[in-house]
Amino acid sequence: MSAPKDRIPVEARQRIAEIRQLYPTSRAALLPTLHLVQKLSGGWLSDAMIEAVADELGIEPSDVYGVVTFYDLYHQKPVGRHRIRVCTNVSCMLRGSDEIMAVIRDELGVDEDEVTADGRCSYVHFECLGSCGTAPMMMVDEDYHEDLTPERAREILKGLT
Ligand code: FES
Repeated sequence: MSAPKDRIPVEARQRIAEIRQLYPTSRAALLPTLHLVQKLSGGWLSDAMIEAVADELGIEPSDVYGVVTFYDLYHQKPVGRHRIRVCTNVSCMLRGSDEIMAVIRDELGVDEDEVTADGRCSYVHFECLGSCGTAPMMMVDEDYHEDLTPERAREILKGLT
């Protein structure tokens, strides 16, 4: 059986080595390494890939799991090419986040935390995303969409390719 790090493509291993040079310790290089590997792995990290990262950096798999399960930017199951986070905390809830969630479910045809058949989108509800003054809001990939209406949310979803 091959060593875990053999599952990381050669090109990625070279980039991990470059990242490692920028940080004083392997642990310090873990976050950017996970971002890289997740991106190259279709947006999520399998158990095998988490173990491969641990092996590549020479740290314990449990330490890598600890980081992956702590930060919501890492995913342990497949996600859509576009990841949508809908804030459902108090300000957004009072200003219609339930309607926004319903529009998304209707428009995408899948439930929360599922991936559309074409792999295009997945969505989850989220605690406060720090944009309470412009509630309701959602985050699509890295972009904030604020002062949403159901119509505007639908338009944004239709624009995602
Ligand atoms: S409550 Fe929705 S961004 Fe803060």
